Amino acid sequence: MTSKNEQMLAFALAAVLLIIGVVCYAAFPVKTPEEPVRLMFKTTAGSILFDHKTHTSDAGYAIACDDCHHEGDEPTACGECHEADSDVKRPDAFHKQCKDCHEDSEAGPVECSACHVMK
Ligand code: HEC
Ligand code: HEC
Ligand code: HEC
Ligand code: HEC
Repeated sequence: MTSKNEQMLAFALAAVLLIIGVVCYAAFPVKTPEEPVRLMFKTTAGSILFDHKTHTSDAGYAIACDDCHHEGDEPTACGECHEADSDVKRPDAFHKQCKDCHEDSEAGPVECSACHVMK
């Protein structure tokens, strides 16, 4: 048989857990996948280091996610659709998006060697 105090404790505990759950859900929306800090692409034309976080952060270039991630509202790895055998092949699509934005915005490097490091 449970006492009134034990029942009160159980209700209080349940209430606290509910609040923690709601706060955590609101603070960390499940929809946003973990943003990478830096990515390295290896190609036949050398390696390319892409500073992902610098392109998005307010202290960096403050570019919105969907300026690059164009399919749906959830940022997905581009490579999941742009594989070598897809309609819009991966190296071409990436290369084009990086270089076009740098050209159009007149910010960011366009010389091959600024992105492609041969070794
Ligand atoms: C869910 C699948 C999907 C994802 C993820 C995706 N793409 Fe695409 N992308 C496509 C499809 C399909 C097309 C062609 C049709 C269109 O233009 O919408 C395309 C077209 C493009 C084009 C235009 C190519 C051209 O020749 O005009 C570029 C550039 C591009 N994608 C880059 C990217 C980059 C970079 C990423 C990641 C940041 C990415 N895509 C993520 C499916 C995807
Ligand atoms: C300047 C272009 C650009 C912007 C802006 C951008 N991304 Fe990306 N993102 C990329 C590219 C390129 C990749 C590489 C995908 C691959 O290798 O298939 C990527 C990959 C990712 C991945 C997959 C990580 C992995 O390991 O493959 C996630 C998640 C992601 N981005 C989230 C975000 C979020 C969230 C934002 C906005 C805060 C954002 N991105 C803004 C270009 C961009
Ligand atoms: C702003 C960055 C950037 C600049 C500038 C740039 N590229 Fe690229 N390039 C890339 C990225 C990113 C990829 C694709 C990486 C991947 O698919 O993982 C790529 C892919 C390529 C590929 C395909 C490699 C393969 O394995 O199929 C070639 C070839 C290439 N670039 C040549 C050039 C040349 C030539 C120039 C100068 C005229 C140049 N790039 C300038 C970023 C750049
Ligand atoms: C939507 C526009 C946009 C796209 C797409 C984009 N960039 Fe940039 N990038 C910028 C801007 C803006 C700067 C900052 C130029 C400055 O302030 O001097 C920059 C700077 C850079 C720089 C020089 C500074 C640094 O961070 O080392 C490199 C290298 C670079 N980008 C690589 C890439 C690569 C690789 C990709 C594709 C995977 C890419 N960028 C896609 C806008 C873009």
